[in-house]
Amino acid sequence: MPFAQRHLLGLEGIPAEDIVHVLDTAKSFVEISERDIKKVPTLRGKTVINLFYENSTRTRTSFEIAAKRLSADTINITASTSSAQKGETLADTARNLEAMRPDAIVVRHPSSGAPRLLAQAVSSPVINAGDGQHEHPTQALLDLFTIREKKGKNGSIAGLEVAIVGDILHSRVARSNLFELTTLGAKVRLVGPPTLLPQEFASFGATLHHNLHAGIEGVDVIMMLRIQRERQGANFFPSIDEYSKLFGLDRAAVARAKPDVVILHPGPMNRGIEISSEVADGPYSLILDQVTNGVAVRMALLYLLAARGRGDSEREAEERAVS
Ligand code: CP
Repeated sequence: MPFAQRHLLGLEGIPAEDIVHVLDTAKSFVEISERDIKKVPTLRGKTVINLFYENSTRTRTSFEIAAKRLSADTINITASTSSAQKGETLADTARNLEAMRPDAIVVRHPSSGAPRLLAQAVSSPVINAGDGQHEHPTQALLDLFTIREKKGKNGSIAGLEVAIVGDILHSRVARSNLFELTTLGAKVRLVGPPTLLPQEFASFGATLHHNLHAGIEGVDVIMMLRIQRERQGANFFPSIDEYSKLFGLDRAAVARAKPDVVILHPGPMNRGIEISSEVADGPYSLILDQVTNGVAVRMALLYLLAARGRGDSEREAEERAVS
């Protein structure tokens, strides 16, 4: 079945079949990164532009590695080196990039909705690498891939209990995960102080918890979120110390979950605030597996979106696939 999406702007409303298609495709790419020569010709002759208006370690590097392992040419543009510094609008930047005929544009931007604006201005596929407080779909897909590998039964995560803990209000990772996990039948609990977890989130099909220990009682998966101090215009809790005491994940808290619980964090982590080092580096942690899996997931997305970016038939794209 062909992949139905032209862009990946978010996971809200994306059907289960397309999500599973990405995960299954990613699985076929995992092995390439284990090889001595980590390169296949799948995207030879294609050009991928990474347009990052916000800092990133994992996502930008992961997209660049993914594109290179598929033999695409990659161009990295950051806000500080782009003509945005001279006042150029995002739409004008997009039109100028489009004039150079890229086959995919990956964009991270501090404003929610920027990737959609870009997608309206260009004909090449646009992949959202995180926009404001809106969505971070590729992070959520790699989270889901990691959960499915460890906890899936015959490839299904239906019925799994997943707790997402922390600064839900400002988290694009939480929103994207919430959409995909509920679409695939997981039971999602959102856990955080009322100031960072408003009642409106109940309408997304999750249960809300304002007590960490009660919120993670008996869960299969705990996903910790970073406290985003840079996004907080107001004081959402009295002090970092108090937040850490009430919502920091330490070994005592982990004991409330299932004995075979797995722990995720999208990074970057605030060690000693939302998660103790003992837990982050402990036996239940999948934090570095997430990073490894991110390359395969982004290879899959670039393949599914960019291989057919400019005039290729699906058959031609398939012919260049993993070999
Ligand atoms: N998880 C994540 O988006 O990390 P970076 O900000 O380093 O890309």
